[in-house]
Amino acid sequence: MNNFIYENSTKVYFGAGCVKEFLTSLVKEFDIVMLAYGQGSVKRNGIYDEVTGLLMKAGKTVVEFPGIMPNPTYGKVLEGAWLARSSGVQLILGMGGGSVMDCCKAVSLAACCGEDPWMNYWEKKGIIDFTLIPVGVIATLAGTGSECNGAAVITNEEKKIKTGYDYPVCNPRFALMDPSYTFSVPKRQMAAGAFDSFSHIMEIYFSEPDEQNVSDEISEALMRSLIRNIRIAFENPMDYTARSNLFWDSALSENRLIKMGKRCDFACHLMAHQLGAYTDCNHGEAMAVLHPAYYRHIYGSGLKKFARFARKVWGIRQEDKTDAELAKAGIGALSAFIGEIGLPKTLRELGMEEEKELKKIADSCHYSPGSYRRTLPPEILEIFRECY
Ligand code: NZQ
Ligand code: ZN
Repeated sequence: MNNFIYENSTKVYFGAGCVKEFLTSLVKEFDIVMLAYGQGSVKRNGIYDEVTGLLMKAGKTVVEFPGIMPNPTYGKVLEGAWLARSSGVQLILGMGGGSVMDCCKAVSLAACCGEDPWMNYWEKKGIIDFTLIPVGVIATLAGTGSECNGAAVITNEEKKIKTGYDYPVCNPRFALMDPSYTFSVPKRQMAAGAFDSFSHIMEIYFSEPDEQNVSDEISEALMRSLIRNIRIAFENPMDYTARSNLFWDSALSENRLIKMGKRCDFACHLMAHQLGAYTDCNHGEAMAVLHPAYYRHIYGSGLKKFARFARKVWGIRQEDKTDAELAKAGIGALSAFIGEIGLPKTLRELGMEEEKELKKIADSCHYSPGSYRRTLPPEILEIFRECY
């Protein structure tokens, strides 16, 4: 295992009724609370009413910051930062999925950094040695794990870059996770979120070291849990146990735990983010389109691990198969599962209309130093074309 420092400062309150039980005490020390949310789901499913009711009862001054879009833009971050500063906000409370939670962390950073936020904290990794406005989140969607990490993935529309670093000091101070809040997530988004979690695990699992290590074993258990529970939640979206598992799987997949001791790949994420920067596509769906194609390119450089993935995650027997045959069978099982849960398999299905954009997007992708092997823009373009 490689050396590491593990840190995760988010305090998680998990379970049915956790908002009602804990929110009032968690906001006790703050008078002015920014309430940040997305494009209306929290109003439709009643979460907004429940949360505002509790804040009003506690006598808080609420500054509303609505309309955070999926794939939040830098413009929206600057709008929020201005609002936070001009209203003297003391706590940013986000309720929503990864987009809302990321935007809240970004607003806090942009409001407090006092210099060009994009250049200093997104374009490159900066040092945060100043006090941030604390962020608390009420997660309503399982997938990104944003509730338990310090990343704020933001799209700079002008520069056509989607990026974000995981800054431990940007971790939410608290995360409220009530699985019943995810009952209203539509099936397609539920699948996209679950696949995003699956993708986070694979991006870590398929990287060195491959000596026996606890991270890989936890990863295999998490992947099996995701497969099992997405199938159950698909059958019965109101299954509390399945929704609970999906929710906690997603947090465990992106809270740094399984990254410890591993190099981590994230090449597929770098590609998906740039596809997002150009097309505003759904993040989890982009991961579903890219992973099988990317793995068909690189499996030869991590053959034993891909064979192990087939055996341990998909239950495929070795019998008289070579490792290469087993590895291909594992990637085939991954691809079949993507179809089974109704996720797109092509960039066209993802809403991409113009193949000619692909070269520009491939050229804008950075390479990942933790990959089994380096994938450069000409090969990324091949992968995109195979996915088109
Ligand atoms: O905007 P509203 O109306 O709230 O609707 C959202 C949105 O349309 C809806 N939704 C959320 N909770 C719901 C619900 N609908 C019904 N019932 C609920 N309970 O779902 C739609 C998608 O929401 P969004 O937050 O965009 O999805 P997700 O959680 O997948 O977040 C995607 C963003 O997170 C970034 C992605 O790049 C993307 O920008 N990521 C953040 C990461 C992190 N911080 O660690 C890691 C990821 O790899 C990813 O990059
Ligand atoms: Zn992701």
